[in-house]
Amino acid sequence: MAVRDCDFGTPASESPNTVTLEIDGFRVTVPEGTSVMRAAASVGIQIPKLCATDSLEPFGSCRLCLVQIEGGRGLPASCTTPVAEGMKVCTQNERLANVRRGVMELYISDHPLDCLTCSANGNCELQDMAGAVGLREVRYGYEGENHLKAEKDTSNPYFQFDPSKCIVCSRCVRACEEVQGTFALTIDGRGFDSKVSPSQNQPFMESECVSCGACVQACPTATLMEKSVIEKGQPEHSIITTCAYCGVGCSFKAEMKGAEVVRMVPNKDGHANHGHSCVKGRFAFGYATHKDRITKPMIRKQITDPWQEVSWEEAIGYAASEFKRIQAKYGRGSVGGLTSSRCTNEEAYLVQKLVRAAFGNNNVDTCARVCHSPTGYGLKQTLGESAGTQTFDSIRKTDVILVIGANPTDGHPVFGSAMKRRIREGARLIVADPRDIDLVRSVHVQADYHLKLRPGTNVALINALGHVVVTEGLANDEFAHARCEPESYDKWRAFVSQEHNSPEVSEAITGVPANLVREAARLYATGGNAAIYYGLGVTEHSQGSTMVIGIANLAMATGNIGREGVGVNPLRGQNNVQGSCDMGSFPHELPGYRHVSDTTTRTLFESVWGVALESEPGLRIPNMFGAALDGSFKGLYCEGEDIAQSDPDTQHVHAALRAMECVVVQDLFLNETAKFAHVFLPGASFLEKSGTFTNAERRISPVRRVMPPLAGYEDWEVTQLLSNALGYPMNYGHASEIMDEIASLVPTFTGVSFAKLDELGSIQWPCNDEAPEGTPTMHVDTFVRGKGRFMLTEYVPTQERTNSRFPLILTTGRILSQYNVGAQTRRTANSMWHAEDRLEIHPHDAEDRGINDGDWVGIKSRSGETVLRATITERVQPGVVYTTFHFPESGANVITTDNSDWATNCPEYKVTAVQVTKVAGPSEWQRQYREFSEEQQGLLDHRLATAE
Ligand code: SF4
Ligand code: SF4
Ligand code: SF4
Ligand code: FES
Repeated sequence: MAVRDCDFGTPASESPNTVTLEIDGFRVTVPEGTSVMRAAASVGIQIPKLCATDSLEPFGSCRLCLVQIEGGRGLPASCTTPVAEGMKVCTQNERLANVRRGVMELYISDHPLDCLTCSANGNCELQDMAGAVGLREVRYGYEGENHLKAEKDTSNPYFQFDPSKCIVCSRCVRACEEVQGTFALTIDGRGFDSKVSPSQNQPFMESECVSCGACVQACPTATLMEKSVIEKGQPEHSIITTCAYCGVGCSFKAEMKGAEVVRMVPNKDGHANHGHSCVKGRFAFGYATHKDRITKPMIRKQITDPWQEVSWEEAIGYAASEFKRIQAKYGRGSVGGLTSSRCTNEEAYLVQKLVRAAFGNNNVDTCARVCHSPTGYGLKQTLGESAGTQTFDSIRKTDVILVIGANPTDGHPVFGSAMKRRIREGARLIVADPRDIDLVRSVHVQADYHLKLRPGTNVALINALGHVVVTEGLANDEFAHARCEPESYDKWRAFVSQEHNSPEVSEAITGVPANLVREAARLYATGGNAAIYYGLGVTEHSQGSTMVIGIANLAMATGNIGREGVGVNPLRGQNNVQGSCDMGSFPHELPGYRHVSDTTTRTLFESVWGVALESEPGLRIPNMFGAALDGSFKGLYCEGEDIAQSDPDTQHVHAALRAMECVVVQDLFLNETAKFAHVFLPGASFLEKSGTFTNAERRISPVRRVMPPLAGYEDWEVTQLLSNALGYPMNYGHASEIMDEIASLVPTFTGVSFAKLDELGSIQWPCNDEAPEGTPTMHVDTFVRGKGRFMLTEYVPTQERTNSRFPLILTTGRILSQYNVGAQTRRTANSMWHAEDRLEIHPHDAEDRGINDGDWVGIKSRSGETVLRATITERVQPGVVYTTFHFPESGANVITTDNSDWATNCPEYKVTAVQVTKVAGPSEWQRQYREFSEEQQGLLDHRLATAE
């Protein structure tokens, strides 16, 4: 059986003072504020308990944990009794044993005695406690009134609620409140009638529950139980790995039966998540063994041909020969590659190495191009490092949280829960977002200020905030002068002080009342430790980089950088966006963000890689598309990215892919890009490989293979095969050897190794001689670039303007249950929460157009047209419509334009001028897409099988 984590019963105290006491004759020294239960557990004395667990505050309801304290009265509960100096505690004697047996008798008399067939058998705290207290008989009999026939709730696809087994310990209720912050559960009724109730006594699926699973994890019985455990039985071993969905990077124990995952349990020792998770990481792993997985390599000459299954050797040989043929015919720069922010650091490193060393050019890019490339640029320019400045835990010391263009409870749910917890503890909250995200108002969370700005006006808003800080004398001049370039600071002060940057003038641009901006700026500047968290609502704009710079300016001007509780924190979208950027996935940078034109760096890489490197930056993704349409770019190696769905202006992307002669896709499924491919190389899911991911707080975490790769190879091995076939030898025996090479070449990684990761659990880079165990907070004494640099951020309106033809602004975002292009989550039961992308529209705009909730509406932009169903809601403001982009048939990116950030080409997904009208059926694009998709599915279904 899988070994349960040690449970100390109550959370650790953080007090620096200690207290010494005696428990069962043992001297114990623990931090002040520790419970007697935890103090006992710290020396291996397990006091029986049911309602206590160390992830939750003590509750004191079950009365099983009573102890006797010398000189004290009665038998206090050890979970709610704090230690005291000199205290003498007895945890076991006849009197205590009798009381505990009495308590257990009562529980068991109303509990089904089906232990042998119960799904929790062998992993049930109630069963354990019956054993621990020596329960041998139940005097009350089982005939009286009981709950044994209470009906099960099986509505949630991932877990079941069987109230007949509930002991009303309230751990689930507290987990939902304290850990998750959703408050979906209550204890309804009193005494015998009390029972756990989701929302208004509704089935779980109809309640406010977001299926995070915290209650399931907290439940000491089989009442709340994963369906996968009910089906497969208890796991027998576990392996620690890292979630492959979002940039929070939660650590998990994959609990296994042989090579089969039974359940994913968030790791209590995980530094990013501390034992919590969301519905995706905990439950949505079934895609890894979904029937749609393609596990045999395939090739075809034309995209109108049926696929042909071939051996790995043949597929790799064909791909290599095609790339060589294309380069011979069209030149060395006619091919390129894309690394994946879904794959490991080691895999991203190897793909960029293949492009630079085997293709001999710098035509490598990554999906960070379309999300956080402005973060890399803006933070490098101002602070000197292209990464966030803090740990997630830093929020525990934050007094004012400023969230800009991010929706943490949907996009980064576990951090969203940490944020809500801090807000419940009293931190103040400012939200700058065009939409009413959950943080603006939800149970026990209310933003102090919601700056509901118009999409595309971020820079005007950040300048207005800066204006107030400077002109009202709220800046931290001492910090700015000591730590930053004084000249740049003075210039910035003069710039933001100009009248056109005042909240009163910019109100006409942003739509945010000037007084709100003034009050928010005062709170940010004077409310104590202030931290900024931002997302794609900042970066995916024509002025994405400018806005990142504006954020850094504001943090520096108020001294909110370089210690815990403050900082500039980009919430990275995908699991390894930070890592793929660190690993040199951009065409202008070698690993470690060093420019390809830098001779010293190039010479270093040339000496280790044994090949001459190109000194000119290569093509970015949009340039690759442009060159493909011009006829000069003909071959692409695309690992783990679905550009045909995720990139803007879909029709342009599809045309570019059609124009190429060899598209090689390495993926789990026949994704949208693979429909245009000539070679398909089966990929491996995160469960099938070893390596590392780097999350949004620069934390490098281990990814460990828990099952063999279904297609035989980990992704880095496939890249290695391709490189060897291209004539550039690679000879790694294990992913750890790739990390060793990275450590030898990247100064911020020199102290990183698989062995150290195993020892420490995870490491935040920089990790080197100066910081052997990593760097939780950056820019502490000096900025990475020496002095912080202020830069001017003039607001320039986007070219994407509304007019009478396109009077509304479309902006896009994510939803909790689905993930990015949806290739994984759409292949799980998560689609029960979100089975289609919908268009959110304000009631006024809907009424003007005669649109009712659920109607089909056509959305037309300068780029294209698609059709979705409408959801009428006041979450969006008049003039703004919103959608998600998780389903290919929605064609959200058919609408988005090719406008992009001036510095990095990050697409302007967040601002598209559109018109919305009521329609009867799908758009022309959707009709053509469906036809093409069906044709491609047919070519896959009728693939010519391997002749074995
Ligand atoms: S799954 Fe999460 S949100 Fe749902 S009831 Fe349990 S703790 Fe609350
Ligand atoms: S469902 Fe589980 S955790 Fe919740 S009250 Fe019942 S036994 Fe306790
Ligand atoms: S918050 Fe992100 S990393 Fe954590 S479990 Fe959810 S998807 Fe995975
Ligand atoms: S564990 Fe202490 S009262 Fe329940």
